[in-house]
Amino acid sequence: MCGIVGVTGVGDALPYLLQGLQKLEYRGYDSAGVYLTDASGKNALIKEKGRVSKLAEKAKAHGFSGTAGIAHTRWATHGNVTIENAHPQKSADDRFFLVHNGVIENYKELTETYLQGVHLVSETDTEVAVQLVDKFSKDGMSTPDAFRKMISLLDGNSAYGFLLVDHEDPETLYVAKKKSPLLVGVSDHGNAVTSDAAAMIDLTKEFIELRDGDMAIVKPKSVVIYDAAGEEVNREPFTLEIDPEDTDKGAYPYYMLKEIDEQAVVARNISAHYFDEDGNLQGIPCAVTDTIQEADRLYIVAAGTSYHAGLVGKRYFEQWAKIPTEVHIASEFAYDQPMLSEKPFFIFLSQSGETADSREVLDNVKKQGYPALTLANVMNSTLTREADFALPVLAGPEIAVASTKAYTAQVLVQAILAASLGNPGFDLKAELAKVAVEIQAITDEKESFKKIAEDALKDQHSAFYIGRGLDAAVALEAALKLKEISYIQTEGFAAGELKHGTISLIEEGTPVFALLTQSKTAGLLRGEVAQVAARGANTIVFASEDLAKEGDAFVLPQVNELLMPLLAVIPAQLVAYYATLARGLDVDRPRNLAKSVTVQ
Ligand code: F6R
Repeated sequence: MCGIVGVTGVGDALPYLLQGLQKLEYRGYDSAGVYLTDASGKNALIKEKGRVSKLAEKAKAHGFSGTAGIAHTRWATHGNVTIENAHPQKSADDRFFLVHNGVIENYKELTETYLQGVHLVSETDTEVAVQLVDKFSKDGMSTPDAFRKMISLLDGNSAYGFLLVDHEDPETLYVAKKKSPLLVGVSDHGNAVTSDAAAMIDLTKEFIELRDGDMAIVKPKSVVIYDAAGEEVNREPFTLEIDPEDTDKGAYPYYMLKEIDEQAVVARNISAHYFDEDGNLQGIPCAVTDTIQEADRLYIVAAGTSYHAGLVGKRYFEQWAKIPTEVHIASEFAYDQPMLSEKPFFIFLSQSGETADSREVLDNVKKQGYPALTLANVMNSTLTREADFALPVLAGPEIAVASTKAYTAQVLVQAILAASLGNPGFDLKAELAKVAVEIQAITDEKESFKKIAEDALKDQHSAFYIGRGLDAAVALEAALKLKEISYIQTEGFAAGELKHGTISLIEEGTPVFALLTQSKTAGLLRGEVAQVAARGANTIVFASEDLAKEGDAFVLPQVNELLMPLLAVIPAQLVAYYATLARGLDVDRPRNLAKSVTVQ
């Protein structure tokens, strides 16, 4: 969603800010803006609707680069996508400039109470925040006090990340955060603030992580941090272990294709991390397994693709570890908590570690005193920090909005965790090595899926994915992948449900993809494929080697049946990718979506 970058004391601010915004583009946004200034107070505010490249053109044409500045990509929440609503927002007297991530729930009340008579030019809650700082400063407060006072008035539920500049002290950045990621980057040639470390790696790899309630004052050569109680605190920087090339798409036309192709390597990396050379599990602290063993039920909580990964993981926890497991959609669980068992243990699955719906559940669960583990791709994220335990899913930076390698990584790490709690009954390490080889084999045949996608989906308005058992879980993910980027309305569901309603939607030529990898139900699923075919559907079957028949569209290499989701999802990802390309759409940046969903 929205992204924040800021720099000070860097000599030439604009290139850092624009590169930073470009690195944040993958998170989804609909407008962008930059405020530039220098020690003399010369300044410029430039905003644009649409892509960062348009903003870059406008800013370069302006010709001023500054030595400090703040910039933002906005994903509209309050107010339409307009230049007025883009950030930075400014105070009426052009003294304060502010960028903001999050939602101020009580901004209308604050306007009525404090800003009577102030003419607001945007529809945003952010403008209210910057006008409040200005008002309190006019009342006689110092800038840090006015900033603090504004924050103290925000509704307790408001998650926020703020970055403020005062034109009267132009190279100083005022920073505050709560439940919204914000880091301070430090270097000998200037300092930075960013909501995503990857956006500032061209300046530094040293970052200080701010905690909830922190406020920081960042100058060209100093960083001072105050905790929620207002006490000055010392927080040590950490070095970001990230290869700048990991965040580049190299020769690939789209990040999504690169990330699909990376899945074999991801599978190998995960095995290398969680198994030693002799095949023994490592990297899962005893405290995690001991606490889970004491639980009488696991509750997996997640959203979207991560939720779908949880549906597969459930099978491993129940079958191998023998622990009853429920999988819940975070946004539902947060406000309608089901009846819990006596000794629940929570597992949060998240690529970003910042998903607001999941954070809400974690907050509730912590208040109730239940133990929780987060499996996340982005470590040092809110969900990893706030849970009792955290394990990395090790997919590497995932930039495309549509999640691919994080899904397979989450399934893999759940399998490994379940194996550490019980017994899969086969050599998991050896089988995962095979999985990696076969993922590679499927991605090597990507051209087959290009043809399938073009033939079946180029001009379609709707499509279906069906499966049974684990294939039904993968069908949900396959359908999400296709619909979110190609805009083809796609339903994924348990094939047995067809005749209970959905089959009435089948028309001549309707594409129905069937995932067929589970032997127990293969015969039934073949029957369902025949039923839709008899009603005119264009059936496309992806079947595992042991179950394949002539006429199937693609034969998936055979691995242990419980691990087949790791292979069955790959054709679905590739079909989604090629269908989207064929329809001339932006694969990496589907409309209305954001990579990290930090609002509820
Ligand atoms: C879809 C997708 C989303 C995310 C969901 C949860 O491709 O990526 O459905 O899975 O927004 O995000 P995380 O995993 O970051 O908690």
